[in-house]
Amino acid sequence: MTIETASLGILHKAVEKLADGYRHLPAHHTEYDQQQAEEILLQVAEKMWDNYPYPHPQYAGQMLKPPHPVARMAYMLATWINPNNHALDGGKASSAMEKEAVAKIATLYGWDNYLGHLTGGGTLANLEALWVANHIHPGKTVLASSQAHYTHSRICGVLQIPFESVAVDDQARMDLNDLEAKLQQLDVGTVVVTLGTTGVGSVDPLPDILRLQETYGFRIHIDSAYGGYYTLADNLTPQVRAAYDAIRQADSVVVDPHKHGLQPYGCGCVLFRDPQVGRYYKHDSPYTYFSSDELHLGNQP
Ligand SMILES: Cc1ncc(COP(=O)(O)O)c(C=O)c1O
Repeated sequence: MTIETASLGILHKAVEKLADGYRHLPAHHTEYDQQQAEEILLQVAEKMWDNYPYPHPQYAGQMLKPPHPVARMAYMLATWINPNNHALDGGKASSAMEKEAVAKIATLYGWDNYLGHLTGGGTLANLEALWVANHIHPGKTVLASSQAHYTHSRICGVLQIPFESVAVDDQARMDLNDLEAKLQQLDVGTVVVTLGTTGVGSVDPLPDILRLQETYGFRIHIDSAYGGYYTLADNLTPQVRAAYDAIRQADSVVVDPHKHGLQPYGCGCVLFRDPQVGRYYKHDSPYTYFSSDELHLGNQP
């Protein structure tokens, strides 16, 4: 396998450009033992040989995707400054870029008025979505299919929310009869609909679940951590297309840029259709929030 290195030249130019923006500051040199640093880095490179060759086109990995070279370079470039987007003050330029990126992700689902942010990954993004769901329907049961990611039952354990699993049909999609039976038996607050299950990529029947929502009034959270970007594909079956098109009617959605968005780990994203859920995030921490009346990224999902 040949590891791509042309990007190193581009990265070098970009780091120089970054430095231009700070040349007005007093000169400063980061002191470290370069020889030792090189030895350590070469050792790390050798240890990495023991990983599978994920970027190779013949590596048929189920979930792991090599980051796009642009994403990889941008990620490394950012580490020279290491901004913290938690507060708009802590990463002015990078927070603006995060908002831009999240707005682009939201357009995938037809959302232009939403609340959302990037997270460390799908687990954290789903946790936020179920945390908000539990604010809206306190103590009510969360349902997800038996093929949903295990993260949902675990998150419900952490948040102390009752969780029940729904059976799947012969194509690993949420079984509507079992779902309706559970809706009748239990006090259900939220149904997690998986669009792209981790095991087999199956897509739960969202349009039918939306119809059941009219009768039973639960919240719908879409876990498309794995499958969210498949909405861009032009060869989906009509049933799967309909499920993706219906995301615009869901209450929240999770998608992982660090999967099919070709970003390096860790990058998830959570979006809420109702921006008013920001009220659950709002808190007062004067040591971080100074400059803006806008909801800071760390103050919102
Ligand atoms: C459907 C689904 N949800 C959630 C997750 C958890 O995401 P992460 O590993 O980014 O925390 C995954 C990961 O594979 C997933 O496939």
